[in-house]
Amino acid sequence: MKSVAWLLPFVALVAVPTVLSDAPTNVSLPDLANSFWTPNGLKLPSKALVEAVTRSKLPVLDAFGHRREIVLMSIASEFAFQRMFDVFLMSLQNITFKAHDGSEDNLARHLVINVMTTTSTEKCTAVADKYGSSCVPYGNSAFTLGNFHVHSNDFYGIGFTKTATILDGLTLGVDVLFLDADQVMFRNPLPYLLAREADVLVSGDCHNHGDSAPMERLPPINNNIGFVYFRPTAMVARAIYNWALWLANIARRGDKPWDQTTFAGAIETVSGDVTVRHMSMAMLHSDLFPYLCMGPCGCDLRGVPYFHNGKLPRRTADNICEPELMREWYNYHMPCAGDMNTKAQLMEEYAAMYQKVIGPINSLSAPMTVLPPLAA
Ligand SMILES: *[C@@H]1O[C@H](CO)[C@@H](O)[C@H](O)[C@H]1NC(C)=O
Ligand SMILES: *[C@@H]1O[C@H](CO)[C@@H](O)[C@H](O)[C@H]1NC(C)=O
Repeated sequence: MKSVAWLLPFVALVAVPTVLSDAPTNVSLPDLANSFWTPNGLKLPSKALVEAVTRSKLPVLDAFGHRREIVLMSIASEFAFQRMFDVFLMSLQNITFKAHDGSEDNLARHLVINVMTTTSTEKCTAVADKYGSSCVPYGNSAFTLGNFHVHSNDFYGIGFTKTATILDGLTLGVDVLFLDADQVMFRNPLPYLLAREADVLVSGDCHNHGDSAPMERLPPINNNIGFVYFRPTAMVARAIYNWALWLANIARRGDKPWDQTTFAGAIETVSGDVTVRHMSMAMLHSDLFPYLCMGPCGCDLRGVPYFHNGKLPRRTADNICEPELMREWYNYHMPCAGDMNTKAQLMEEYAAMYQKVIGPINSLSAPMTVLPPLAA
């Protein structure tokens, strides 16, 4: 007893820094929101971000014969580098395709990662260098080094980083595919996205709807902005800028700003006013872009009438998902799971299940025409 009591102060002293850095931020949401703004507007893209986007952009031909330049973007904090980012980047690296000169290229080489925690850029680079992705310091000292628990101030602060990241990409004139890092890819999603006309394409809950016609509104179900694609039109940039300001204003008046629940309103308001000709959207087919909130095997739309909710299948007796459904999957995204290390484990499990049931990752990808870069 005696010796334990004597040890306690020492243990407490040693433990304090870890506990503090893992605890959610104690910065208020108004202060956090304001730290992303200058008196004259949202902070401008950094030189490092401009260079990373320029280096990473992938010129491709879309299904309508137009040249497009795409950048994949994501955000990361310290905890994500324990395990999750390695799986995420390996997953993107597994999606290979032919470059314009016939050499092999892959999606990881076109990813730009904004690093939200000030001390984590080196950790990001150590992982990203293995895969050819780019890390850009976008640190905010308010953010925790821990897990960004749902409904903590850190969690709500993600929206400030996410909107700024998307806007910085769009401002540079590239198509932005924004990806949360808690997902794995099975097929190259770009040929699919490049065959659709809407300015904004976002994943969403299990529901039968079309994604080919550009719409003024999203279907009346939840979207998920962990997989969202934007074309760099002037009107889309306006919409994202106003979305960012909306989130800041919510925080400034003392409420909780959630990027996920404001997104549909932010883009639908603009489209409703200027018409679908100037800004359009569609929700991606839920059976092709599944996520874990739906359940363990995504969304089954077979036999489901148009504009009705789909079925949420369970695993089969051999603990796999039905091959006929899996064959259609582009990715599997892991919101509604545990912490980032738990998500990493799930990501590995789904990649393994795909390889066991369907075959090699990327084996069902459609071809994509990659163009040479424009002469400087
Ligand atoms: C946040 O925590 C740090 C470390 O304990 C402390 O120095 C600071 O005063 C706290 N800030 C607020 C706004 O509570
Ligand atoms: C990536 O591909 C390798 C080699 O085929 C495979 O072993 C691994 O499970 C894949 N990982 C992911 C996350 O796709």
